[in-house]
Amino acid sequence: MSQPPQVDASGYDRARFIPEFYDYVVPYATRPDIGFYVGAARQHGGPVLELGCGTGRILIPTARAGIDISGLDSSEGMLKVCRARLDKEPANVRGVREAGDGPGHGGRVAMVAHDILQAGSSLRPNSRGQALASFNGCTVGVSRFSTHPLWERHPAGDEFLQVFEGELDITVLTPEGPVESTLRPGAVFVVPKGLWHSPRPRGTVTLLFVGKAKGTEVSNAKDPRESSRSAE
Ligand SMILES: C[S@@+](CC[C@H](N)C(=O)[O-])C[C@H]1O[C@@H](n2cnc3c(N)ncnc32)[C@H](O)[C@@H]1O
Repeated sequence: MSQPPQVDASGYDRARFIPEFYDYVVPYATRPDIGFYVGAARQHGGPVLELGCGTGRILIPTARAGIDISGLDSSEGMLKVCRARLDKEPANVRGVREAGDGPGHGGRVAMVAHDILQAGSSLRPNSRGQALASFNGCTVGVSRFSTHPLWERHPAGDEFLQVFEGELDITVLTPEGPVESTLRPGAVFVVPKGLWHSPRPRGTVTLLFVGKAKGTEVSNAKDPRESSRSAE
């Protein structure tokens, strides 16, 4: 998989001391939130994707708890510290996979260096999007679009969306009837496996998606349950 240009949009590589001292300065050294995140991951059962995993402050305790976790970060410096910390962990916590390796990383932890906003802004609107990484058999990618087929559905699994720029109205046809939502920047949304949904951008939308494209169907019919075609 080709890598997008690495740009320090997060600012964490602006000075070498930032990743080096991150784990030792207040508030990060004393923030009492690790138990909360590990508890939430344990309750969910994993796998977990941490966006902006940094030095592994949350990622490593989560992996130690036996939860399958992948981290994504744009800062090479922060990931370097994370890798060094992982090197000191037992093998079941240390299984590191870099972006571009195939699926199935054997161990528990995978890390990918990408800047999501940079990847999104370098896309032409309405191109097919850019795959960034593979996560638990799913594609993690960025998409930028102002038009979209009226309906689509993914029979192979749920689809996770996080909007970064723009707004998106989305209708999901559930067995109980249509459910309408509006996703604004920062919103996350999960489209359940196999349900027809209609994403309608208001202008141009940039979003992160995680899902399995295999078997995806699209339709421009008024009622997609009557006619559809494969998107592949
Ligand atoms: C405050 S640190 C948090 C790190 C870790 N989650 C923690 O709780 O210690 C924020 C992290 O998000 C990363 N980050 C910020 N913007 C990003 C982006 N657009 N794409 C990927 N990573 C980003 C930074 O590089 C940094 O490592």
